[in-house]
Amino acid sequence: MSNSNHDDIQNEVVPATQSETQVNLPKSELPVHVLRRADVDPIAAARAERQVAIMFLLSAVFTVLAVVSFFAIPVDLYIRVPGPGVTSASNFALGITLGLAIFLIGTGAIHWARKLMPDDEVVQSRHGYSSSREIRESVMQEIRIGGEESGFTSRKIVRRSLLTAIAVLPLPAVILALDFGPLPQNELRETLWKKGVRLVTDPTGRYLRPEDFSVGSLVSAHPENLKEWEEENHNLNARAKTSILVVRMTPEQLRTSQGEGWDYQGIIAYSKICTHVGCPIALYEHRTHHLLCPCHQSTFDLADSGNVVFGPAARRLPQLPLGVDEEGYLVALSDFQEPVGPSFWERG
Ligand code: FES
Repeated sequence: MSNSNHDDIQNEVVPATQSETQVNLPKSELPVHVLRRADVDPIAAARAERQVAIMFLLSAVFTVLAVVSFFAIPVDLYIRVPGPGVTSASNFALGITLGLAIFLIGTGAIHWARKLMPDDEVVQSRHGYSSSREIRESVMQEIRIGGEESGFTSRKIVRRSLLTAIAVLPLPAVILALDFGPLPQNELRETLWKKGVRLVTDPTGRYLRPEDFSVGSLVSAHPENLKEWEEENHNLNARAKTSILVVRMTPEQLRTSQGEGWDYQGIIAYSKICTHVGCPIALYEHRTHHLLCPCHQSTFDLADSGNVVFGPAARRLPQLPLGVDEEGYLVALSDFQEPVGPSFWERG
C-alpha cells in the first residue's frame, strides 16, 4: 500500500465507545518520515528481496545438511574442537547446522522487515479491551492491508523460500527420534572391570594397597586399563561406567545383605554413578556411612550393600567385589554384577 493509505489511516477518526480513551495526535507532531532506498529504488528493492531469499534458502540447505550429518557421521567419531575440547563429531555437526538454519531464518526475517516492509510512523489509538465491531473490522482491514504491503502475497520468491525453510526445519526432530534405538544390549552391562584388574587412584593413576586405607577414608578410583582404553577410543564413556569410590570400615560395621566375598578386610568399592539419573557422587559421611548424591539428595548406605535410605533413587549402588593379587595390590574379583547408573528399558 502506498504512503497515502497510511495518511488515510492516521487521519481516520475511529468512533469512541464509553470505555475508550483516545488520544489523536495531529499529523504535524509526527516525526518526518524518511524513505529508505528500497522504498524509492526498485533495483534496491529487488536486491534486498534476493538477499532475503538467499538467507531463507541457505537455512533450508543447512537443515538438509543436519539430516545428512545425522546419517553420515558415526556416533563414535570424536574430534578435538577449540574450546569444548574432545567432543562428538555428530553432535558438533548437528549443533552447527541446526543453529545456522534457525539463525538464517531469523536474520532473513529481520532483513525483510528492515528493508522491504513499510516503516511509516502511525498513531495508534488506545482503547479498552472490548472493542466495538467497527474497530474490530477496521483492525482486520489493517491486517489485510499489512499482509499485502509486507509483500507476503505479492513477493512470491520470498514467500516460497520462507515456506521452504520452515517446511524442512522439523525434519531433524523426526530423524533425531531414531536415537531411541537400537537398544544398548550389553553395552551398559559390561565395563572394563574384570577379575584381577588393579584399582588405581583417580586422577594420579597410583596402584592401591589395603595399607593405603585407614578406617573412614574414601578414595576415587578406576581400573588400571582405563588410560590405555581412552587413548585408543578418545572418549569418556568407559570412565563414566568404571569410576568407583573405595572406603574402609571395620568388618564389624559391614551389614552386607548380598552375601560374603564383596569386601577385603573392610575395604569396599561402589560405582560412583548415582542410580537415579546418573550424577557422580562423592559426599561421604563416615560416621553414618551414608553417601549423598548432590543432585536430588538420594542417600545410600555403604555399610549395607549401598542400599537406598532416602531420596528418589530406586536401586542400590552397584558394588564391585574386591581382593588382592599376589603382589598385594587391590584388584577387582569380577565386573559389576548389575548395570551401573540409571534405569534403562532393558534393565530387569
Ligand atoms: S542423580 Fe542422584 S539423586 Fe538424582
